[in-house]
Parts: sequence; structure tokens; C-alpha cells
Amino acid sequence: MKRHTILLILSLVHLSLTLSAQKKPVQPKSADAIDIKVKTLLAKMTLDEKIGQLNQYTSDRLATGPLTPNSSKFNEIKTGKVGSMLNVKGAKETRMVQELAMQSRLKIPLLFGLDVIHGYRVTFPVPLAEAASWDLGMIETSARIAGKEAASAGIHWTFAPMVDIARDPRWGRVMEGAGEDPYLGSLIAGARVKGFQGKGLGSLDAIMACAKHFAAYGAAIGGRDYNTTDMSDRTLWEVYLPPFKAALDAGAATFMNGFNDLNGVPATGNSYLQRDILKGKWAFKGFVVSDWGSIGEMVNHGFATDNKQAGMLAINAGSDMDMESHSYIVNLAQLVKEEKVSVVTINEAVKRILRKKFEMGLFDDPYRFSNEEREKNTLNSPENRGAARDIAKHSIVLLKNDNQLLPLSKTIKIIAVIGPLAKSNIDMMGFWSVKWDNDHLVSPYEGIENKVGKTTKLLYAQGCDVTDTSKANFSQAVATAMQADVVVLAVGEHFDMTGEAKSKANIHLPGVQEDLIKAIKATGKPIVVLTMSGRPMIFNWTADHADAILQTWWLGSEAGNAIADVLFGDYNPSGKLPISFPRSEGQIPVYYNYKNTGRPSTNDYGTGYKSGYTDLQNSPRYAFGYGLSYTQFELSDLKLNKISIKPNENIKVTCTLKNTGKYAGEEVVQLYLRDEVGSVTRPVKELKGFEKVYLKAGESKAVTFVINKEKLSFYNQKMNWTTEPGTFDVMIGNSSDHIILNSKFELVQ
Ligand code: NOJ
Repeated sequence: MKRHTILLILSLVHLSLTLSAQKKPVQPKSADAIDIKVKTLLAKMTLDEKIGQLNQYTSDRLATGPLTPNSSKFNEIKTGKVGSMLNVKGAKETRMVQELAMQSRLKIPLLFGLDVIHGYRVTFPVPLAEAASWDLGMIETSARIAGKEAASAGIHWTFAPMVDIARDPRWGRVMEGAGEDPYLGSLIAGARVKGFQGKGLGSLDAIMACAKHFAAYGAAIGGRDYNTTDMSDRTLWEVYLPPFKAALDAGAATFMNGFNDLNGVPATGNSYLQRDILKGKWAFKGFVVSDWGSIGEMVNHGFATDNKQAGMLAINAGSDMDMESHSYIVNLAQLVKEEKVSVVTINEAVKRILRKKFEMGLFDDPYRFSNEEREKNTLNSPENRGAARDIAKHSIVLLKNDNQLLPLSKTIKIIAVIGPLAKSNIDMMGFWSVKWDNDHLVSPYEGIENKVGKTTKLLYAQGCDVTDTSKANFSQAVATAMQADVVVLAVGEHFDMTGEAKSKANIHLPGVQEDLIKAIKATGKPIVVLTMSGRPMIFNWTADHADAILQTWWLGSEAGNAIADVLFGDYNPSGKLPISFPRSEGQIPVYYNYKNTGRPSTNDYGTGYKSGYTDLQNSPRYAFGYGLSYTQFELSDLKLNKISIKPNENIKVTCTLKNTGKYAGEEVVQLYLRDEVGSVTRPVKELKGFEKVYLKAGESKAVTFVINKEKLSFYNQKMNWTTEPGTFDVMIGNSSDHIILNSKFELVQ
């Protein structure tokens, strides 16, 4: 290349870099520079303006909780009485509402928050389903795309990820988290935060994450939403707090507290959680938003006499922003006058919020996220839908595959697609998704239709609706099945049967759906059952008698296509359950990392004075970590590079994974540890590592795990995070209930 050509290229590159730098109005700012700006602004603010920053209202149209009538919201924005709005969406609307804030004396921009839980315009699988992929990269990508789409539509802030550990599938919000395990849950929490926040606050495609619900909300007694939680400090620290810490370490900009009362103190008014742990020990620099009305609800808890006292308790306990309790805006000024809340406390909360507004670049340009052109170009792109399909197929869990019925051949002559969800579009989106007019959600039937060739005939019968008690249409479904070579049955829950305030005492497959499966099975035709839900359901008869079962959750926009990819073997399923599927509601809570007890069962029952039930196994129907593949994998050659280590040393564990079947596929190799004897009893096993490995048929690969001090530590009797000398069991398997390789090592002082 000639010299002048090189120079020309260099100058063009320089020009384009200069132009793109000019296009970006916001330059990265140092923490100190922001501190100065925050302080300068704070000094100009009246007490009322400060309190305004702590106030968040919902838009009436998209309310996601009980609305408090207030016709003067927009006026209040103009007078600086509102710091944030939730449930305003779209570049146009957010711009309009931001314009109101720009009429206020100090022109402090609003923050727009929304529940972007599993996708914004393109709907991704519900979070519990995504967790079943055990694929952190994909989970991060899903949040990244949701973040980009939401940011292009004027949203600054998502109320996600929900990182509550859930051991009770009756709890409706189990669908919104990553399941029962603190280790997997922590990694997923980190991945989601990174995804939403991308390259960091201030990037035009990054939104603030919000780790919620701090803390222990997922331990609602009896699985009843909003219910009391009561647990030891040990359980809190070992099981419920780790994903929050992981979210914080990943840089979560905000936290949301919870509706629950924890050990007698509502989370919203809980100083131990918010001040001592979050802002104290963990040195969190972001801000805490209350949950919807949770400040006012402390009156119902019997913790505050009225909304005013509730406000005092909440702000003093470290709850910075009031979502929809209308408590701070009404009462804080008076509380300051009465010296029940100090100006220092208010300043501290305001500073935290202003800091985020500066970091987001909103003082440079309050409308920078509200650009209709960008919104149009970003939303619902084929790439985003492609990513949704990709993660959807990775989220599917193969629960059963007798006689290798799956994958189906694409040249089968006649397939009957039967069941209440076979042609459902709306249910594919799952709970907590953003609603769109004329949205295209792919049903299982449509996905199968897209997949098979012209020589395959598809038949359809609904059989019954999800909650039907009538079997009137069974005969038609049976007649349809009789004509087919294979039957695909799509059963489960409607999208609004698991989610906030959707707790259930009965989590069996609803209505007469299992009877429909029985009737179809009686035809003698091979049946593949698609179980679709946001929670573990109970379907024992189906588990015993169906030929194949795929847990397909609620998979989002591309559900049907992803299901068809798996049914016909274009993708070999690799999902693993992130939560146990019980045999009966009577077993709940049932989770893999339980304690051994003094009388552990030897036959899975409680007979012979052992711990368990006399009328039911202890084990769940499907265990945490379980999931099959179309191919077979073999694990062998477990090696530890040492048999004894000191606390500051690592131990390397290796094994070999071989694909011995005939399809390429992925396996999640899972490492569990058990500390055999401790000054505090330890669980029978704890997940401490996993790797998802792709292997072609016949291929093998060495898998290595490094066990370090962190993985061997626990809270001792004094609640110090430490290790103790002793023997550790090393267990490697493909499910928590299927350990294939075992070894031991000693930890010496
Ligand atoms: C109540 C829910 O508990 C919370 O998770 C959500 O972010 C808010 N409502 C706002 O919709």
C-alpha cells in the first residue's frame, strides 16, 4: 500500500473517531467530579426539592400494583416533587414526561423505571427457564438485549434481576428468579446485572439494574406471596444473601427492598439489612428503592402506626426512594421539623439518587435515551429474535425420553398436536413481560408447522382448556390422536398462573389436563408431552407413563420455533433444572442441599425411625441439576492433584467427559462438595462448580475445577466466614442426584 493511501486511511479513521466522539454528548466522569456536582446541586436545593427526589410515582396506565388516586402527578413533576416515574415507556412518552421535569426550578431529570424482567420488546424465556440453561454467557446476552431495547425506548432503570432464592414452588414469583441454589443463583445474578448495565452507566445502551427483593422475600412462609419470613442468621447469610452480594459485586446500581417481614422487622424498615449489611459491611454506593407501597404497608404489618411513622422508619433504616407509598412526599418535611428524621439522612439519600442521574448522563441531556428513531431501529430486530430463540432452546429440559422417541424425524407422515397450549401464543410470553399490540409470539403448533416439510400432515385438537373440569372434548382429541404417527401434547399453566401474587396451594398440572394425557396415551400412540409453566409442576402419572417429556417453561417470543428445534433434533437439549420438581406439595420445601440429620433415611422413606415420610419418598420427582440429552455422556478419570491442602492452597480436580452417543451435544458437568464434619453441620452437598461442555459424537474433553478457600468456607458458630480442618467429599455428576465420580481430600491447618 502506498504511503499516501495509508495516510488517507489514517486520517479517515481519525475523522470518523472524532465524529463519533462528537456524537457522544457524555464523557466518562470520575467519581470525584460527580461528587462535586452532586454537592453543588444539593447546596442549591430546598428541603422540599430534596424530598421530591426521594419520591417515585407510577403512571396510571401501566400500573403494576394497587393504584393510589392522584390526579396532580404531572403538576408535582413540574414543581420538583418527583424524582422518578415507573411504568412510563417509549421514547415519545418518556420525552413528554421528562419535559415536565424540565419545567421545574432546578430542572433535575427524572429516572424512568420499568420491570424489564425477561426482555423488553422481544420477550425472552422467563428467568427461571433461562436459569435452566446454566449458560451464563447467554443469560448475560439476554439481559444485554433487554437493556439495549429498553434504553432505546427511554427507560433508564429496570427492576431486575430478582435474585431471591426460592425453595418453594408454590410461591408465584419462583418464575422470576434463578431457582433454589445460592451458587448458581449468584453467578446468574452477576451475569444479569452485567447484561443490563453493559459497558457501564452512561453508555447509551445501558440501564441501571436493581437487585431485588432485599432480602429473603423468596422464603415466604407457606409459599404465600408477601408472607412473613423467619430464619436464622445463618440461613440468611448462607442461602439468601449470596446472590445479592454477587449482584453488588457485579456493580448493581440499585437495590429494592421487599414486602416481607424478616424475623419481625419488615425489610423496608430493616436497618440491619439496609444500613448494617448493604450500605455498611458491603459499602453499597447506589440507592435503595422501596417496593410498591411497602413503606405504607408497614402499618398493616403492625410495625408503624401510620404512613407518617412508616416513612420515618423506612428512611432511617436506609430506604432511599419511596415507590408509591406517598409517604415521603407527604410526611418527610414534617418529620424533619419534628427532628424525627435528620437533614443529614435526607441528604445522604438524595446524594445517592443524584449520583446515579449524573452517572447516567441525564444532566448533560435529559432526553438522551428518548430518541424515537433509535427506538425504531433497535426494537424487535431479527437478531434480537434470533437470540431469544437461541436461549429459549438452551432453556428446555429433557425430563424423559423412553426408547429414544426424540428427536422426531422431520418426515413423519402425521403428527397430532394436542392440548390447551398447543395453539396458544399469549401464554408463551410468561408473566412479567412487557405487553405489545399485535405481538408475534410463536405457538408450539406454529413452530412445528414451520419446521416440518410438506409431506408431513399436522392435525390439531385442543382436548380441554388449561383449567377445564370438563372432559367433553376428549373424544375428539382421542380421535385425532388415533390418526397420527406421534402425538405432541402441550399442557401446563396459563401465563398468569405463576408470578407476583400468583401463589398456589395446588401445583399439579391444572384442571383435567393429566386425564387428557391418560386418554391420549390409551390410544397406544407414542406421546411427547411439553410441560409449560413458570414453576415446577407436579405430574407424576405423566412422568411415569409418557414416552418423552420436555419442560418448556414459558419461552417468550420464539417459543414455538425453539420447541420445534428441540423436538426435531436441530438442537440437542442441554437444560438442567435450577430447582427441584416435587412429587407432592407435602414435600415442600424440597431442595438438594439439605442437612443429613441424626437419622438420615436409607431407603428414601422415613420408616424405621428415620427422617422422612412414611407415605412418600424424600427425594423430589426431578432433582436440582437434572436434565437429559439425546446423546449419552460418560464421566471418568477423576483426579485430584493433592490429597491434602492448607487453607491458602488450591486443589485441582479433573475428570474426563466423553460423548458416547450418536449426536453432538452439551453436558453440564457439576461439582459438589461436602464438608464431612464441622463445628456447624453442613449440607449433604453443595454445588461449587460446573462447566457446560459441547462435544461432538465420540469426542472427549478434560474438565478442570479449582477448589479454593472460598469454596470450602462457611459461617462458624460465631458467624465468621472461615474454613475448618477436616475431610471434604468431592462429587462429580450430571445432576445433584446422580453423582458418578467420588473422591476425598483433607484440609489441614
Ligand atoms: C412490586 C414487585 O414486588 C416489584 O418486584 C416490582 O418491581 C414493583 N411492583 C414495580 O412493578
